[in-house]
Amino acid sequence: MTLAIRPLALDDVDAVAAAIGKRVEKLREYVAEEAAGAIATFTAWSDGVFVGYVILRWRSAWFGDGVPEIQDFNVVRARRRQGIGTALLDAAEARAAERSAVVGLGVGMTADYGAAQIMYVKRGYVPDGRGLATHGRPVRYYGESVFVDDDLVLYFTRTLR
Ligand SMILES: CC(C)(COP(=O)(O)OP(=O)(O)OC[C@H]1O[C@@H](n2cnc3c(N)ncnc32)[C@H](O)[C@@H]1OP(=O)(O)O)[C@@H](O)C(=O)NCCC(=O)NCCS
Repeated sequence: MTLAIRPLALDDVDAVAAAIGKRVEKLREYVAEEAAGAIATFTAWSDGVFVGYVILRWRSAWFGDGVPEIQDFNVVRARRRQGIGTALLDAAEARAAERSAVVGLGVGMTADYGAAQIMYVKRGYVPDGRGLATHGRPVRYYGESVFVDDDLVLYFTRTLR
């Protein structure tokens, strides 16, 4: 197989939305955000067929200035465990390293994110030490109730250089 990685284009959004179950409007927004310099997008194509993508956001709401955040990382189910995610993260981290010595990301706490949890630790990502976060803010105290959803995350960073 030949794997090509390139930025998301407007012409791609229908194929990407169908393959990954993402809203077309959100994907169009990504194209606009990349044109405005807020993010970098990386889409993976295997012999011309879309197989995965990841976003690099230059200014992270969690990490602040200077630590770009990897977001929305996804490989189509049928093509997982074939190194596509690794190729996407390699590309996103290399781009981040052009501007920053550190890159960050947040990962969900349920088993839906189990593969990603394992992958990040094996790649050298380390918890950022701020503890669990819910909807962009740290969980504050013992006994606090939190809703378990995609926005209950632990943030990690990786030193790139
Ligand atoms: C996370 C994800 C993008 C990984 O993509 P992928 O193409 O399968 O990743 P790779 O094939 O490059 O895997 C790299 C390594 O990660 C680890 N890994 C990946 N999936 C794993 C799994 N299901 N179980 C255990 N380890 C796993 C392995 O160490 C693997 O290397 P190996 O196959 O040589 O053992 C993919 O599983 C996915 O889309 N998951 C659902 C969405 C998600 O959780 N996104 C992350 C949000 S934070």
